[in-house]
Amino acid sequence: MSEERYLTFALGKGRLAKKTLELFEQIGITCDEMKDKDTRKLIFVNEEYKLRFFLAKSPDVPTYVEYGAADIGVVGKDTILEENRNVYEVLDLGFGKCRMCVCGPSSAGELLKHHERIRVASKYPNIAREYFYNKKHQTVDIIKLNGSVELGPLVELSDVIVDIVETGSTLKENGLEVLEEVCPLSARMIVNPVSMQMEADRIRKLVGAIREQLKIQS
Ligand code: PRP
Repeated sequence: MSEERYLTFALGKGRLAKKTLELFEQIGITCDEMKDKDTRKLIFVNEEYKLRFFLAKSPDVPTYVEYGAADIGVVGKDTILEENRNVYEVLDLGFGKCRMCVCGPSSAGELLKHHERIRVASKYPNIAREYFYNKKHQTVDIIKLNGSVELGPLVELSDVIVDIVETGSTLKENGLEVLEEVCPLSARMIVNPVSMQMEADRIRKLVGAIREQLKIQS
């Protein structure tokens, strides 16, 4: 009976969505509709397993999941921490690995060490606030940016940044470095709390299949 209802997935647009769909294909869940690059469709269906997928801007994924518009979401841990929504994080998918770090010119290391009142630019103001205020007990001024955050220290908007570091090449090319690590990041699967109860069997099976597949790969 519960198979009648579509299980809906919200995927964060971009690299993570591509990796997620590859993983789903490996466990036998395909969605050919989604591969059509010219399509203007927003929602894609797998009739065999009664699944629906849609792509959303990453910060919106936890919102769709909290409100139950999607049962399941796949998004980076950075977004989960920043958005702080009422969702269950059920699985670390292991890909999209990177780190949230405090970065800046090496000279800013001293400012951090002496707990100076510094300016921190970030796309992740909540993560930055949590780190400086609650973990380090350091009063700072947080400036919200929407991208190219590395510009902050370069044009003297801020002393440091809190941002994602993957390969480290953006920092290197701009004469910046990692000064402190905030936390490791990777793609996670999140679930709506009501769906977790109502669709327990289907979700458990899906998570089991993904776990199995990831074990085989690693
Ligand atoms: C992210 C992040 C860094 C960069 C890190 O930016 O904000 O700028 O990637 O990657 P690296 O360590 O491999 O150089 P993104 O490309 O998402 O764009 P954005 O600057 O618009 O946030």
